Amino acid sequence: MINLHKDHKSLLTIIVFVFLGLSTLIAIIPAYNMQTKVTPLSKSTALTQSERNGLKTYISEGCVSCHTQQVRNIAMDNKWGDRPSIPSDYYYSKQRLSFFQQSPSVLGSERTGPDLTSVGTRQPSDDWHLLHLYNPRIVVKESVMPGYSWLFEKKKKSAVSENDIVLNVSKEFVNDKYAIIAKQEALDLVSYLKSLKQADLYAVPSPEFIPASTKKETVIISKGTGNLPNGEQLYMDKCASCHQLNGEGLGGAFPSLKGSPIVLDKNHDLMIQIILAGYDARSEYAVMPAFSDQLSDAEVAAITNHEKTSWGNNAQTISEEDVKKVREYLKTLNP
Ligand code: HEC
Ligand code: HEC
Repeated sequence: MINLHKDHKSLLTIIVFVFLGLSTLIAIIPAYNMQTKVTPLSKSTALTQSERNGLKTYISEGCVSCHTQQVRNIAMDNKWGDRPSIPSDYYYSKQRLSFFQQSPSVLGSERTGPDLTSVGTRQPSDDWHLLHLYNPRIVVKESVMPGYSWLFEKKKKSAVSENDIVLNVSKEFVNDKYAIIAKQEALDLVSYLKSLKQADLYAVPSPEFIPASTKKETVIISKGTGNLPNGEQLYMDKCASCHQLNGEGLGGAFPSLKGSPIVLDKNHDLMIQIILAGYDARSEYAVMPAFSDQLSDAEVAAITNHEKTSWGNNAQTISEEDVKKVREYLKTLNP
């Protein structure tokens, strides 16, 4: 028996191993999984050198303390983006700053100022951003954001050279003998801000935020095979915006249904449950919304069969009865 009151070596060894074990379990493994599984969105682009420098300034100036860069999956956030943020949105900004510097998180949790996820779309003007950074009150009278005047240089007007980016600051803010010149850091920061645009995921209108406040009108569905509605048409209407018409999904956001083990599985319960109740099992993908309110048993069966038999998938089809059973079962879980 080790006596921890006296045996300091064992005590220290246990502490070190518990520490290493916990660090591996709660920090290293999850981080490793995220880094290997998250892929960039097809429509997002890598940061340019100037944008990366801007990101560094964004971090060193602490902009994150007042601004978030995450559109949460709730209806009140949809003015900040067309869709909820997903891990892949951060693929490029999460790359190491340098060999010695891991990229700190700029997601933020405090919104003293507006969310900046899509500020590049909302405010594409360089001039606006530069003036705003120099002194926010110039463009937004009631702003409480601090000015970042050290990213700018005050020069005598006579000393201004033609390569200088001069701000149009009114006399109210600077003596008219002087001109305000943007330093490279300010220009880089603005390129970074302008690069903040939510990458478009959807060929078709974006899905609703969860919880969806209203039900969508169901289009009139023509008859499909057997006594079920037309699964292909329903798929196009309800599922293709995320999983795409070719069933291949979108890297980093929505899994492929073509060849998916869940779709091909002989036991169809999980697939039906995913469609009825939604699915958020893997962090490398976005969230799949629930469709139990929008689709009848027959419609779910029709879509399931469409997915099980399209794009080279060749799995056993199901009936309306099968869906009914799963729906009943889900009701017992969530009465
Ligand atoms: C003390 C909190 C605070 C800090 C720190 C702060 N901001 Fe702001 N920011 C605000 C507020 C409040 C607003 C809204 C009023 C306005 O537009 O000035 C704002 C607005 C903005 C906007 C305009 C957003 C829009 O939707 O039009 C941008 C861009 C911005 N800030 C960038 C930055 C950058 C870059 C930094 C770091 C260099 C920064 N902010 C630091 C509080 C802050
Ligand atoms: C808002 C986007 C979105 C829509 C619309 C959507 N899905 Fe999904 N679906 C997802 C995401 C994201 C996942 C993966 C979730 C996870 O694993 O965390 C997923 C997973 C699945 C899976 C599991 C596949 C696998 O390999 O893991 C099936 C089956 C599925 N969806 C079917 C459907 C069907 C049928 C519809 C239409 C009724 C539909 N989805 C509509 C986003 C969507």
